[in-house]
Amino acid sequence: MGMRRLVAHPVEGRMACLVVAESDLVRSTEIGGERKVGTSVEMNAIARAVQRQIDGCATFFYDAWVNQYVNSITGDYVEFGSWGGNTMNQAYIAMKNAGIDRHMWAFDSFEGLPPAADDRDYHPGWNPGAGKGQGGVDKFYEACDKHNIPREAYTAVEGYFDTTLPPLGLDGAPNDIAIVYIDCNMYSSTVTVFEFLSPRLKHGMIIAFDDYFCWSPTTVSGERSAFHEFSKAHPQWHFERYKDVHRAGVSFVVEHADQLS
Ligand SMILES: C[S@@+](CC[C@H](N)C(=O)[O-])C[C@H]1O[C@@H](n2cnc3c(N)ncnc32)[C@H](O)[C@@H]1O
Repeated sequence: MGMRRLVAHPVEGRMACLVVAESDLVRSTEIGGERKVGTSVEMNAIARAVQRQIDGCATFFYDAWVNQYVNSITGDYVEFGSWGGNTMNQAYIAMKNAGIDRHMWAFDSFEGLPPAADDRDYHPGWNPGAGKGQGGVDKFYEACDKHNIPREAYTAVEGYFDTTLPPLGLDGAPNDIAIVYIDCNMYSSTVTVFEFLSPRLKHGMIIAFDDYFCWSPTTVSGERSAFHEFSKAHPQWHFERYKDVHRAGVSFVVEHADQLS
């Protein structure tokens, strides 16, 4: 009997699905919609990397939720870049395990990365504007159903950030946020996210980046570049390095800078 096992999780900001089919010797992996075939040694290496990211997310989200609860930080979970529902799933499981109940938000085009608007949007691991399509928000609902995340637990907002976020203005919901998870890969997308977050920042909020250490041979990570620019332009906020999420992901806690002077 053939065996089929599917593991899905972002690898360097892309979705990697490892499929073990027919026998342990026939393996292929799908990254960003492209099927790659490799030896079982190579495929095992990818599976190990994926599992380490899942484990990292699980630990990070659990600790972050417990900390927000212990420190009386109110608010929702807000994610930018959600389509596979994997990080959302880890955040949801950890929240439930911590005995916490907060609303969750998933912002995504659910159609893939937009075209590049800046040199810093490029990376060897992803392809802005490739337009492969991710099946729209219905595929995201399906993914969340499979993860047993109830529909009422979250709100999915479909569309490119530059069309969905500005209409929310300075105080449209979500406007009380405990944890932000940024997994939109690109510099320009992260800039738009910070324009939205700017009036919603509050002391004690945690901001996590999935692709903070996805540099390239010539560029700093796009998420990191956008965050660096934002923090320089807003010295009233101090962003203290908090916990690592996984190999490429890190998080920060937002603090009033004047308390540290
Ligand atoms: C790595 S994937 C997210 C994976 C997801 N966190 C998971 O665990 O399944 C990055 C996502 O960011 C979204 N994205 C990036 N820039 C965007 C933008 N400007 N507007 C809307 N969605 C964007 C893409 O559509 C893509 O689905």
